[in-house]
Amino acid sequence: MKYAIVGVGGRHAMFRRAITETHADGNDLVALCDVNETRLALSAGKIPQKGNGIATYEAAEFERMIAEQQPDTVIVTTPDYLHHEYIVAALKAGRNVMTEKPMTVDLQKLRAVLEAQQQSGKRLTVTFNYRYTPARTQLKDLLMSGVIGEITAVDFRWYLDRVHGADYFRRWHRYKEKSGGLLVHKSTHHFDLMNWWVASTPKTVSANGKRVFYTPEMAEELGLGEHGERCHTCPVFDRCEYRLDLAGDPALRELYLDAEDDDGYLRDKCVFADDITIEDTM
Ligand SMILES: NC(=O)c1ccc[n+]([C@@H]2O[C@H](COP(=O)([O-])OP(=O)(O)OC[C@H]3O[C@@H](n4cnc5c(N)ncnc54)[C@H](O)[C@@H]3O)[C@@H](O)[C@H]2O)c1
Repeated sequence: MKYAIVGVGGRHAMFRRAITETHADGNDLVALCDVNETRLALSAGKIPQKGNGIATYEAAEFERMIAEQQPDTVIVTTPDYLHHEYIVAALKAGRNVMTEKPMTVDLQKLRAVLEAQQQSGKRLTVTFNYRYTPARTQLKDLLMSGVIGEITAVDFRWYLDRVHGADYFRRWHRYKEKSGGLLVHKSTHHFDLMNWWVASTPKTVSANGKRVFYTPEMAEELGLGEHGERCHTCPVFDRCEYRLDLAGDPALRELYLDAEDDDGYLRDKCVFADDITIEDTM
């Protein structure tokens, strides 16, 4: 099987390694596509055997990539708000698609994706990796075995800590139109788990939430009111418990800090900024 990956940021490495290392037999990664040339070169350089020889394409060349490289499956690991563009284009070009969760961020884009899938008849897979973690698979086994009898009610909560949780407030995730907010971006995993565990889907859904912690007011309350736009050059870096040290982490440095000049993507924006539009409590 031939694969191409679009969006070669943090997440794509799992897919790249699976195709080129863990499951290299019978599988071939034929191309990479991204807006960022530094990240493209970095990813290409980590592929065994092919070295820098793998075909790389700029985002605007996506369709040319498909025509030239003829991948069987396109893997979409761009930010969420762009998934639909690549899913639809790949399906229309007659390719199977594997996309990271969430499939997309709003109803209009979802309809476009479903329509393209139905018209193309190709396979579209959303990779819900949480299902494959041992504890969650075991829970599914237990429920299916009937050991607790009929399931009549479920109480499910999910808490995010300061390291994992804060990370959703630094970059594209923090804008509602780019991630759908955490009830879409993050909870898509949990809705999927719940539906799968109880083998059912909801009839009605309602939600509410607010942003109450990752706010400018909280920065003041924590004595961090003098913070900068980002952690890397922040005047309160040393005393902020929420900082992300891009320069001090070799993997983050090469993937993001060293690639900033290409597109201005800042991986470590302040989590207490005023322009955040997602909720943190819901
Ligand atoms: N299943 C999981 O547990 C899990 C974990 C992390 C991320 N994800 C998902 O993986 C996806 C990527 O997340 P990430 O953390 O790698 O983000 P990232 O920002 O690190 O990487 C995104 C990549 O897409 C590129 N990109 C941006 N605009 C583009 C465009 N127009 N065309 C092509 N490429 C473009 C960026 O340059 C970057 O290299 C998201 O959908 C996210 O929800 C899933």
